[in-house]
Amino acid sequence: MKALKQKVVWMVIVISVNTFYSQAQEHTNERARWFTDARFGMFIHWGVYSGAEGIWKGEKLRNDNDYAEWIYYRNRIARDEYTTLLDRFDWDSIDPEQWVLLAKESGMKYVTITAKHHDGFALWDSQVSDYDVAEFTHPKRDIVKELADACHKHGLKLGLYYSHWVDWEHPDGWDHSKEIYGISAEDYDRYWLGKVIPQIRELLSNYGEVGMIWFDMWVHHSNTCVTKEQLLQLKGVIRELQPQCLVNSRLGLSIEEDSDIDFKTLGDNQLGSKKEEFPWQSPATVAHSWGFHALEKQWKSTTTLLQNLIGNVSLNGNMMLNIGPRANGDVPYEIEQRLLAMGKWLSVNGESIYGSQAFDLVKDQHDWGKITCRKNPDGSTLIYLHVFNWPLGHQLPVTGIQGKPVKAYLLADQEKIALPFTSQGVVTVLDLPEKAPDPLVSVVVLEYNSYPTTEEGLVAQSVYGGFSLTPTNALESKGDTTLKPPKRGGTVPEHIAVTEKSRYHWRIYIEKPMSLYTDVSYSFQGEDGKGTLSVSSQAGSLKANFKPSGKFVGEPNSNWQIDSFDSHRLGQLDFTQEGYYDISLEIAPRKGDELGFQWLWLGTE
Ligand code: GLC
Repeated sequence: MKALKQKVVWMVIVISVNTFYSQAQEHTNERARWFTDARFGMFIHWGVYSGAEGIWKGEKLRNDNDYAEWIYYRNRIARDEYTTLLDRFDWDSIDPEQWVLLAKESGMKYVTITAKHHDGFALWDSQVSDYDVAEFTHPKRDIVKELADACHKHGLKLGLYYSHWVDWEHPDGWDHSKEIYGISAEDYDRYWLGKVIPQIRELLSNYGEVGMIWFDMWVHHSNTCVTKEQLLQLKGVIRELQPQCLVNSRLGLSIEEDSDIDFKTLGDNQLGSKKEEFPWQSPATVAHSWGFHALEKQWKSTTTLLQNLIGNVSLNGNMMLNIGPRANGDVPYEIEQRLLAMGKWLSVNGESIYGSQAFDLVKDQHDWGKITCRKNPDGSTLIYLHVFNWPLGHQLPVTGIQGKPVKAYLLADQEKIALPFTSQGVVTVLDLPEKAPDPLVSVVVLEYNSYPTTEEGLVAQSVYGGFSLTPTNALESKGDTTLKPPKRGGTVPEHIAVTEKSRYHWRIYIEKPMSLYTDVSYSFQGEDGKGTLSVSSQAGSLKANFKPSGKFVGEPNSNWQIDSFDSHRLGQLDFTQEGYYDISLEIAPRKGDELGFQWLWLGTE
């Protein structure tokens, strides 16, 4: 509900009831079907830079964006001196098949290697340029061929990363310094026709089936030296030689600009933020750098990586997770162990990822995790509840799905022993075992005979017993609606600065009669008794005057005084029967006053 960030007078988001039996990812080209089924792939950044490990002549990689594969450019290494790094490579122990086997064991379905990164060095035996691996190895090696053969042998799709825009070694290739020194269209075309086009022809002619060419240009073509015609020409070569080969949006043509682009590539380590109908992917690292970096420190946990993958799939996206092997071919232990743990998890829970897709509910509606789903050919539907925080009270509320599931069970349970649940209206509450079956993420399956009707726009019951009604999950807002972003780590939380009479409206579903206490969190720095807060709903009305909330100090002696956001009890609402309830909050400040509204909490205890 991003629109709330803009000032709008009266915003209405209509509750939509989806009764149709939709095929997710409608805008998927036929050739990309395998890709949306695969969901999880391996990225390999490996090349001459792997020998440097992020350090050149005793000096750490320059630049705060610590991408080890950029050392040639960042540390101003001369073209021919750069290849002396290859002397550090242990060619006897380098075996690309091992990377493919690791990908397979990790549950990945495709492998994309940096066939040519920005350094311009080809990892295959290229007849177009002698800046290639065959020139520097005796006997000659062809890493692309070795990897391609291994992928084909083990049934994984092959992806080839090719840096088309940037090429530091070619005198007419693009490097960012040309923003200063310039490059003529004629010179760039010499690089384009002399290296890019023929090398892409080689890659698509000599290595069997190529699942995708992964391009890497992250500025729009109108802002750099490549022309749209050149990009279309490049894509044309791919369509001519291997019509089934996928092309990503970092070719420099967005999926919106050219619907023939097969999938959208998000920014580096950028996760999905909304459900899309076209295929998309996050390129991701286990720590930070893509190429091996000896000084790497920021390792993400296995749970984080897994939750990132699940989060993407819950929005119809893929994740391609990078390994940066060393110059002897070894995959860093920190990466290998995380990948293998993910593979183990996928060997049990993979059904909820491969061939699975987004489910039609609001993003981040449930505070216990993410949902994916699978529609079987007979129409029956499996809803996968990925529970990130196993509820302490073992009760898992699911809001927004009409009707009773046929069955609920743990995906890890081979016997599919039925879990008890209650289901009323659009709320199903599952009775979970005390202990989570998986230390990473546990998956509960809800089985339905047909694709269930969903109801969007409802605020889901929190796993912590209540409803958190916030400016971002409101259905309607009138008056002040501009969200103020959090400051200093959230000590000043996200809120709306209310200066005029404003009203916010939410919808909830109550599955059994209950009473809920009502608290509102706000900051008010004005005088006592000025301005009113009123809650109205079918369960009763509550009213209170503003109370000054004062300030507090963040850390001693640091001149850090914060307007306090405090929880204020308004009273109790009595929901005497099950059903939908509309909850409205009106905030009426006196002229010249401001109240920082954060949330309304309806709690059970
Ligand atoms: C960026 C970097 C590059 C890396 C890529 C991975 O474009 O330039 O080094 O290969 O992202 O997504």
